[in-house]
Amino acid sequence: MEYSIKSGDPTKQRTACLIAGVFSKRQLSPMALQLDKASKGFLQRILKRGDMDGESGQQLMLYDVPGIQAERVLLVGLGKLRDLSRKKYAKTVATVIKSLDKSHAIEAIWGLSETVINDNSPHQTIRDTVMGAEESLYRFTETKSEVKKTERPLKRLALFISDRRHLKSAQKTLSQAAAVADGIKLTKDLANLPGNICTPSYLAEQARKLGRLHSNLKVRVLDEKQMTKLGMGALLSVSRGSRQPAKLIVMEYMGGKSTAKPVVLVGKGLTFDAGGISLKPSAAMDEMKYDMCGGATVIGTLKACLSMELPINLIGIVPASENLPDGDANKPGDIVTSMSGQTIEILNTDAEGRLILCDAITYSERFNPAAVIDIATLTGACIVALGSQASGLMANNETLANELLAAGTHTGDRVWQLPLWDDYQEQLDSNFADMANIGGKGAGTITAACFLSRFTKKFKWAHLDIAGTAWRSGSSKGATGRPVSLLTQFLLKRCGQ
Ligand code: BES
Ligand code: MN
Ligand code: ZN
Repeated sequence: MEYSIKSGDPTKQRTACLIAGVFSKRQLSPMALQLDKASKGFLQRILKRGDMDGESGQQLMLYDVPGIQAERVLLVGLGKLRDLSRKKYAKTVATVIKSLDKSHAIEAIWGLSETVINDNSPHQTIRDTVMGAEESLYRFTETKSEVKKTERPLKRLALFISDRRHLKSAQKTLSQAAAVADGIKLTKDLANLPGNICTPSYLAEQARKLGRLHSNLKVRVLDEKQMTKLGMGALLSVSRGSRQPAKLIVMEYMGGKSTAKPVVLVGKGLTFDAGGISLKPSAAMDEMKYDMCGGATVIGTLKACLSMELPINLIGIVPASENLPDGDANKPGDIVTSMSGQTIEILNTDAEGRLILCDAITYSERFNPAAVIDIATLTGACIVALGSQASGLMANNETLANELLAAGTHTGDRVWQLPLWDDYQEQLDSNFADMANIGGKGAGTITAACFLSRFTKKFKWAHLDIAGTAWRSGSSKGATGRPVSLLTQFLLKRCGQ
């Protein structure tokens, strides 16, 4: 959808549909009041008849409202003003956008952008509106043979602001929000593809495609031979059990000063995780096509930063592989040597994410990073701990952790920190190698992060476990695009925006 910012007299807007809010009980929003005045009390009279009292979720389409230029007015119930939360607003955006899409208006003016939402700034509301609209209209149709097209779908939405002085800053917020929404869409599209289409080579090709579209993005893809030379024994041990060759995708965007240290994002790109010899149970195993969501997040975040032309240096690294059982696959007890030189006893071949990540993280050292953030669907334990509400956050630097926590709160794409105390490290002791690839029964999310922490001694590092947040299961199964929103906000803030 195309978005714009509009300002002026709402009664004079020539548009197919003007969307105005009503609070309960029958309290007109400032815009609705203006429309009511121009129509000599038309809106109030209709509300008094009892068709709508402003409860949240209500909608009332009015045609030919006298005294104004818009063809239609859609009144939207927002509930009690003081109860209006961000979550409620997002729900309203979704239902209204869906019904507008089905109505015959191909463009509309959104008069709810200035609604006062608890804890929200007007700019956050603009952002929430765009994110909510895009989320509600998203469909994954690439693998359907026939796609039912919406007749006259909603194509243009103008967000209305009353104060002209805020026009410029609102426009900037809007274009940033649209860029982030585009990044999220790319992440979802990549993630929703099945494992037989979205292989490591496919992911690499998509990254190359992004590089061809943007001259300031340099994309390199390391093949297994090059990784062997670098000594990436942990990563390569995982792909040995698969017919699909592993790829290490490296994307460089140098939008900042040439001397500024880059932020490095490392995303787990496991295009299908069957568990290997430690085979997973078959129930819901299809969802392990989503085990590359960390990688898709890195690619989507880069896309968003490219379109925002952020003045920052940003490196994206995606180790991509499958994890399957095979005669040549890792076996429990196998010992491999990582690029860092540390040896690893593989006690469970299903703990493969940390094996591909540790070598990618070691590789990131060469960029002299300001910070490294890895993003991974790493542990089922994280779903037990935090559910689908928050991603797990662990870090070796509190300032970095706090930046990510703040970005999560700001965007609603939230993270929650778990401790990385040394006390947990002993769970990784091995009798035969420098470490085992699994801990004991407890704290599975933390011991996975402990494992990664052993490869991050040279820089500030944070780890995001997105096992519970990257996709939804059940009847609305699909990728969420999280945490692209969080990461872009973190990066925006890093370059002072
Ligand atoms: N990709 C999985 C983690 C996962 C499982 C994410 C289910 C989302 C839903 C990861 O590779 C894995 O299998 N982890 C194991 C680790 C264990 C063997 C220590 C897990 O969580 O069971
Ligand atoms: Mn696994
Ligand atoms: Zn996995």
